[in-house]
Amino acid sequence: MTRKPDPFTVPFGTVLCDWMTTARADGGGYVYGGSPEPYRDHVISPAAHALHYASAIFEGLKAHRQSDGSLAVFRLDRHIQRMATSAALLRLPEIDPGTLRRMIIDAVEANAPEVPDPPGSLYIRPTLVGTDPDIGAAARPSRSALLYVVNSPVGDYFKGGVRPLTLLLETSVPRTVPKFGMVKCGANYAMALGVTLDSMAASEAIDQILFATDNDITETGAANFFLADDERVVTRHLDESFLHGITRASVIELADHLGYQVEERTIHPDELVDWAERGEAFLTGTAAVLAPVGSIVHDGETLKFGGGQPGRNAMRLRQALVDIQVGAAPDPFGWRTPVRG
Ligand code: PLP
Ligand code: COI
Repeated sequence: MTRKPDPFTVPFGTVLCDWMTTARADGGGYVYGGSPEPYRDHVISPAAHALHYASAIFEGLKAHRQSDGSLAVFRLDRHIQRMATSAALLRLPEIDPGTLRRMIIDAVEANAPEVPDPPGSLYIRPTLVGTDPDIGAAARPSRSALLYVVNSPVGDYFKGGVRPLTLLLETSVPRTVPKFGMVKCGANYAMALGVTLDSMAASEAIDQILFATDNDITETGAANFFLADDERVVTRHLDESFLHGITRASVIELADHLGYQVEERTIHPDELVDWAERGEAFLTGTAAVLAPVGSIVHDGETLKFGGGQPGRNAMRLRQALVDIQVGAAPDPFGWRTPVRG
């Protein structure tokens, strides 16, 4: 293993592990050689479909070191399922879940020595790009594709660890087009970049942009959004317009299990004033985990939630989630997939 920096001292995702797995499809199914290979550059044509017509998707999931030293991947099959859906929606060659599962497990096992102890983890990035060398194929799907899995030892996504985040409410510019919000594709992040950079330029304190076009709060640039109090947990109902977070789904199940009433519905920005006075807000995501929100800025006004401190319900739900991820609590929902550590 080459010597790498401590993931807590460098930005999230900038350290890559020594091993990766790769498969290629060429008009048929994906062919995976069956073993990890050293991390290296891929060779693709300058005319590759993904480079011109954005036929590129990815996933983000994590493996956690367990209290007994072994490793477990969190919600492996759910992430595979979401990637298969993204591939289908962008008309990329159909993913075989069994092949991708093998590729993820093989990569994690090969990189096991690089998995940090909690609160660090191994971020897993399966990626799929259309590779047909055809610059005329604007209205044709790529028949060939490159599927690969790279890993990154990670610490906190938000600099400074678990702390109350500041969000900026964006009510006029959407993150992406509504029909493709649920696709985990690079193009969605590229479309959000301009508005994110412009908004963040206004204040260094902003951690994330909270998108709320048409008075409908959906998600931030990298996470889903929740409101909570001692009885209730509220988040946006699912439709095509935003990413169906797997942490979101997990927190909903956990909240229900812990006796909260869960509401999946439209959230109007006007509601925030009341919630800020007596409730809490938080974000969920694989990278973000469960991050308390301290303030939401809109039109120059700042709404402080819980006096700007992390809420007790957010922290309770975060602990319940993390305990399952790292094996400090039983796994009643079957969310952990053990892999060789
Ligand atoms: N929304 C966006 C735009 C994201 O990038 C992410 C991160 O993956 C999420 C929501 C949360 O999804 P998940 O919990 O599956 O990581
Ligand atoms: C994730 O949480 O997995 C994401 O894809 C967010 C990304 C911006 C790091």
